[in-house]
Amino acid sequence: MTLPGPNDWADWFRGKEFSQDWTSPHFPVWSEVLAPLRERPCELLEIGSWEGRSAVFFLEFLPLSRITCIDTFGGSPEHFANAEWRASVPKIERRFDANLAGYHGRFEKIRARSATGLDSLLVSHRTFDVIYVDGSHRRDDVLIDTLSSWQMLKPGGTMIWDDYGGGKNLPDVERAKPAVDMFLEMYAGDFTLVRKHYQMIVRKTPGDRKPTWLRWQVHRLGRRLGRF
Ligand SMILES: C[S@@+](CC[C@H](N)C(=O)[O-])C[C@H]1O[C@@H](n2cnc3c(N)ncnc32)[C@H](O)[C@@H]1O
Repeated sequence: MTLPGPNDWADWFRGKEFSQDWTSPHFPVWSEVLAPLRERPCELLEIGSWEGRSAVFFLEFLPLSRITCIDTFGGSPEHFANAEWRASVPKIERRFDANLAGYHGRFEKIRARSATGLDSLLVSHRTFDVIYVDGSHRRDDVLIDTLSSWQMLKPGGTMIWDDYGGGKNLPDVERAKPAVDMFLEMYAGDFTLVRKHYQMIVRKTPGDRKPTWLRWQVHRLGRRLGRF
């Protein structure tokens, strides 16, 4: 199977309006990792969409996919520290809408803080094949986004965190890495590592529900026995 390459990527973005490109360096790895999903319907969740570059890639690369995008469309603190990015912030939602307009029926936009948006999806019992965590890169936000969205990742599904290798000069509270590391330590055994680089990519263990349920029963039994 021949995968789309740089010429196809250029076609997908022609005529669309973007101010920044933090995303296309990840296309080769995403292509490799997501290739098995190209021929089947799949559901994606994206936390952090900006002007929609990653969402457009996913929708084009996975022709049978649908994507749910959560964003405040108000930018992140780091966008206000850079004059060029700050100037883009008031235009990002309009650009997202224009860039995604051609994919009518294949995307859902949730304009909200991620915690609120994720909770609304959780109570609706939504599940996803791929989750891309690229909203706030602050440690505590990443941890909350991860813990909420992991519950909605299907067994065998793929989770991608942006900026795992970023912000090396920043204090831990402002970096994604400590949150991702903490999460992976807590959930050791429930995933396989796909890639650990600037982005972290893992695959949820297929059928991990049974061991989790079993662990819970063992935990309950231990507590009951402890009472006698
Ligand atoms: C790095 S950008 C996303 C880039 C995008 N994935 C792309 O490919 O161009 C981060 C986005 O996260 C959004 N964001 C930051 N904190 C958020 C939060 N707490 N809840 C929802 N969105 C947030 C910002 O508005 C911004 O659009």
